[in-house]
Amino acid sequence: METKRFGVDWTRKDTAKSVSLFFLHFIILFTIAAGVLLGNKLSYIVDYMRENGAYYLYALICVMLLVVITYLYFFFEDRSVLRSGSQICILFVVLDLYFLAAWLMGSKIHTYARPVAFVPLMVFVLINRKAAIFMNIIGSLFVFVTDTFTGSLAVLQFEYYSSLIMSFSAGMFAIFFCDKAKTRMRIVGVGVLIVVPIDLIILILEIAPMLESSVAITAEVFDAIFQSMGYGLIGGVSSTILFLAFLPVFEVVFNTLTVYRIRELTSSDASVLKKLKQEAPGTYNHSVMVAQLAEASAAAIGENVDFARAAALYHDVGKLHEPEHFTENQGEYNLHDEITPELSADLIRSHAKDGYTLIRSNHLPEFLADIAMQHHGTMPIRYFYAKALKLSDGELNIEDYSYLGPKPQTKLAAIIMIADASEAAVRAVKAKSAEETERAIRAVIEERMDLEQFAECDITMADLTKIRQALVNTLTGVYHHRIKYPSIKYKRTESGTKGENE
Ligand SMILES: [Fe+2]
Ligand SMILES: [Fe+2]
Repeated sequence: METKRFGVDWTRKDTAKSVSLFFLHFIILFTIAAGVLLGNKLSYIVDYMRENGAYYLYALICVMLLVVITYLYFFFEDRSVLRSGSQICILFVVLDLYFLAAWLMGSKIHTYARPVAFVPLMVFVLINRKAAIFMNIIGSLFVFVTDTFTGSLAVLQFEYYSSLIMSFSAGMFAIFFCDKAKTRMRIVGVGVLIVVPIDLIILILEIAPMLESSVAITAEVFDAIFQSMGYGLIGGVSSTILFLAFLPVFEVVFNTLTVYRIRELTSSDASVLKKLKQEAPGTYNHSVMVAQLAEASAAAIGENVDFARAAALYHDVGKLHEPEHFTENQGEYNLHDEITPELSADLIRSHAKDGYTLIRSNHLPEFLADIAMQHHGTMPIRYFYAKALKLSDGELNIEDYSYLGPKPQTKLAAIIMIADASEAAVRAVKAKSAEETERAIRAVIEERMDLEQFAECDITMADLTKIRQALVNTLTGVYHHRIKYPSIKYKRTESGTKGENE
């Protein structure tokens, strides 16, 4: 039996897997650093190491210490990162890239031109803000340690300390500004914004020693300061250029869904949604309404709001296959008046599978396809089942009139199922008060519980209660009872316009 240590969720197997991944990545990081720092000294490496070996040993010990501290930080603060092999890889590959870019920019241009905000920006978007703040400290210290002990760049020690402060501050500002950047392109703005603190720090750090040693501030001194500030500008902008270049690669290689990708998929420019709006406007409007409900429900139970919105907008895209088969897109003519209820049920239920196929064939994220497939679970298609019951002697197989499933497999899929059905139910009963709305939503949830639709996902009773409250609040706001304005008939008379009640 697996022994569980450090809480119920953490096993020895998790420790072994995460420690070995950290060790492997430490070796890779070390090899890259050694290659970069010693590559051009290979012809006289023995003599060089005899003289400088001790410094490299200090650097190695410090980097090892930083890696151990990183492991311990995530062990005590956010074990989900250690449990995910791809997140550990993201942390280290981002560090590897930063080290290479910092060395390249530092040696070819200037220490201030290093892409100082690259690590925090990448970790913020690919993992989370807490991890980004911590990795900003580690990234800054990592480059500082290799700088100071190996002296790889022929610059003054002063610049090393300055660049440590600058890289840490720029990274922190990048994280805070990033919070407001809703799209990938706005990150370019973050790159420009972080130049302000970078250049301010450079200005202070360059002027301070001059004031102390009473150096006359001449035009050349100004030129030198402006040049340093120009390098700072390169540092800020290159951080975002690297970020924009590498983020899509990371999204594909590590199969990570970033909030930017999700926002792009949910914008009105997204091709499938554009098509839905044009070819099935009824379904599109319904999906927008479901998105509003799904967002409120997700926020109520701590699920990702952006993911909920995306799943809701795409849940019915399968209806694009034959939009006119669905009430919300029908005009006068109703095809279902002319065919058997069994055939109608067959046409209706296919939209779940069609949605799955359409989403996958457009190379959209798998979770959207899964939710499109699961959003009706194995529920009977009530309208046509009831119609068939009326026409038959009662000998009906309910499965012939039900969706094919699977039932919701995640909390998010359950949210979409409830939000979708609640929107339709509240609209159908024309609920005018919060009580009527609550009754309709309660019935939707209870019906699905009776039919065991939540048996395969980990949603709890507490979650269902919070979702119900969130839906009632949102729907009451949307379909609130409006004041009926009295109509007035206007008449033009010689003395002006006069009105009277109709
Ligand atoms: Fe649907
Ligand atoms: Fe729907």
